Amino acid sequence: MTDTPSNGGADALPLALYVHTPWCVSKCPYCDFNSHAADAPPFERYATRLLADLDLELDRPGARRPLSSVFIGGGTPSLFPGPVVRRLLDGVRERTDLLPEIEITLEANPGTRDAARFTDYREAGVNRLSIGVQSLSATHLRALGRIHGPAEARETLRMARAAGFDNINLDMMFALPGQDLAEAQRDLEGLIALEPEHISYYQLTLEPNTRFYARPPRLPDSDLAADMAERGQERLVRAGYRQYEVSAYARDGARCRHNLNYWQFGDYLGIGAGAHGKLSVQGPAQGDRQVYRTAKRRHPVAYLNASLDDLASSARVLDADDLVLEFALNALRLAEGFPRDLFARTTGLPWSRISDIVRGAEQDGMARILADRIEPTALGRRFLDDLIARFATGR
Ligand SMILES: C[S@@+](CC[C@H](N)C(=O)[O-])C[C@H]1O[C@@H](n2cnc3c(N)ncnc32)[C@H](O)[C@@H]1O
Ligand code: SF4
Repeated sequence: MTDTPSNGGADALPLALYVHTPWCVSKCPYCDFNSHAADAPPFERYATRLLADLDLELDRPGARRPLSSVFIGGGTPSLFPGPVVRRLLDGVRERTDLLPEIEITLEANPGTRDAARFTDYREAGVNRLSIGVQSLSATHLRALGRIHGPAEARETLRMARAAGFDNINLDMMFALPGQDLAEAQRDLEGLIALEPEHISYYQLTLEPNTRFYARPPRLPDSDLAADMAERGQERLVRAGYRQYEVSAYARDGARCRHNLNYWQFGDYLGIGAGAHGKLSVQGPAQGDRQVYRTAKRRHPVAYLNASLDDLASSARVLDADDLVLEFALNALRLAEGFPRDLFARTTGLPWSRISDIVRGAEQDGMARILADRIEPTALGRRFLDDLIARFATGR
């Protein structure tokens, strides 16, 4: 337990913790996450380092606040043995205060070896799983370079339920190599039949520094991809999932609090190789607020071997232009937009900084100005990059 948090007055904002695990069994050809294929990752050493990293983070200004969520992401966190995850979460509990309703998510890859650890994770305090199903077609899973098949994805979900998880997200991607509309629909139908509480439905994108980028497979053209997105969205809503962000759909009460905190431009600590963090420190005056970003050494070897003084690769205070753009990049992803006062609360900037931009977006049919919040319209959501660009250029 901590002493009374010295939160610099920023206690209105929740604080989240992101924990990055950088290893996978093999590297998928479309993936640009900080993940590396490894046969025998040094789990114990890594957990020890994560806790040392957390100690450093907690010494930063603005960091002593109760945690509202923890997200163990990757890479493939479900490679970690149960006792190591328990030691990690016990270490987090010893060092911080957790809000009673805290959400603790762990990302898992389909596979019965990983799923055999689910009971341990549940007992360690993990209360939400996010499982990367990606597709339920054997052909498309192969094209994605995945090491699991559809049957394993289903079995993994069954094992998650048996271990007591009642808050589960399933990731699926669409616009896959060679996929047609009927196949995308069939995939989604299969996913809905598994009845998860939450679905993340992503369009596959070609990211620089991936094998797919270097040698692109044949992907559906943009019209077909847009059709898949639209039909998928309609189907998910009919199945009782509410879209609350570009790719995120949830049953009532099952929105991901950790990701919501990012989109609401909240604060978070980032520990682990390449992890990013964002913290705000409120000074005595209203506009006197500093928001800064942190990043850790990216390569797992560098992260494990750096001296503690050298673990952070950067810490950068955001200027007003950065703040406006980063706020827009996050908050406009939300279907319901953002409450007007969130802008000043999270950036410390006056509303006048964006009032003309918001009014211009309203005049062009991209956003609605409601009594209590600003909401992107269907047009704004469809051309989200254009809407966000207005906040970058100030017009
Ligand atoms: C951190 S990743 C991986 C989680 C887990 N290791 C897995 O692969 O199942 C989280 C999710 O991002 C999505 N994703 C990864 N790369 C993507 C890409 N190039 N385009 C669209 N979605 C992607 C996948 O759905 C993936 O499950
Ligand atoms: S998609 Fe997931 S399993 Fe594949 S390399 Fe990336 S993090 Fe690892």
